[in-house]
Amino acid sequence: MEPPHPPPSSHDGTGDTGEGRYGEAVFPPERAGEDERIDLGALAYDETTLARLERLGAGPGWHCLEVGAGTGTVARRLLDRAGVESVLAVDRDVRFLSARPAPGLTVMEADITAPDFDPGRFQLVHARFVLMHLPARRELLARLAGLLAPGGVLVLGDAVDLTSAVAADTPYTRTMRAMWQGLKDTIGTDVTWVPEYPRLLREAGLTSVAAEMYVPPLLPGSAISRFWADTWSRARESMTATGLVDDATVTEAIRCLESPDCAELSAGLITAWGRRPGDGPSGV
Ligand SMILES: C[S@@+](CC[C@H](N)C(=O)[O-])C[C@H]1O[C@@H](n2cnc3c(N)ncnc32)[C@H](O)[C@@H]1O
Repeated sequence: MEPPHPPPSSHDGTGDTGEGRYGEAVFPPERAGEDERIDLGALAYDETTLARLERLGAGPGWHCLEVGAGTGTVARRLLDRAGVESVLAVDRDVRFLSARPAPGLTVMEADITAPDFDPGRFQLVHARFVLMHLPARRELLARLAGLLAPGGVLVLGDAVDLTSAVAADTPYTRTMRAMWQGLKDTIGTDVTWVPEYPRLLREAGLTSVAAEMYVPPLLPGSAISRFWADTWSRARESMTATGLVDDATVTEAIRCLESPDCAELSAGLITAWGRRPGDGPSGV
């Protein structure tokens, strides 16, 4: 039977569904293996992210803010690969960041939605897979833009769901849709507005706005296939609670990810950026 599709989003960016918070209702950091799950996502997307940050000019002399830094893979690679001067890595739970110190890396435990969150001014402000989980995203995006030094660049990366209404009805597509719906119901995650990033960055007063998308291939044993399998195992309860899937469907979808016959599309990463007008660093 064709499962019902999630109701259309209001696109208002208010995150008005889901009372819980990331790290509480789902993906608690104290649960064993949560750092490995985040690392698998990072392994799948870091190369794309770092290449873009470097093309935007991240390098020697830059002071950077990594928002919702997770395990800190981007923060550390900005330092040791791009050679930036410093990175302030902020997260509401810094246990993974503190466990992996690096020269030039400062760790700050803070809730970025707090009204008094004002850690300074930076040449680069970067947030990946963070804003999509948070309420009041429009305001948050504008506040992050306000943390840029003149000429600095705000770079936002978030997921785009490619299991559209016309995608085949398979255990994989049903499970992927149930995951987004379950996250929306529990913590208010909403990826439907992510394609609007370029417009929102422009509205926040930034210039030289552009965006790109990367979709990692779902190959058996790949970091991205393992990431979805682990994510679905951990979020299974919120997914089955949507009524869109049952346990058996999720198990079948995970089996699909492990099969050479898997013929599905991962969620993509949209990376969008814009620059604060004024003299400062240059890049393309
Ligand atoms: C999906 S993980 C992404 C981690 C990292 N940015 C990456 O791409 O690998 C989301 C991260 O955002 C953090 N986070 C969520 N809400 C936050 C908030 N309100 N303030 C600070 N960090 C938050 C979580 O603790 C988690 O580490």
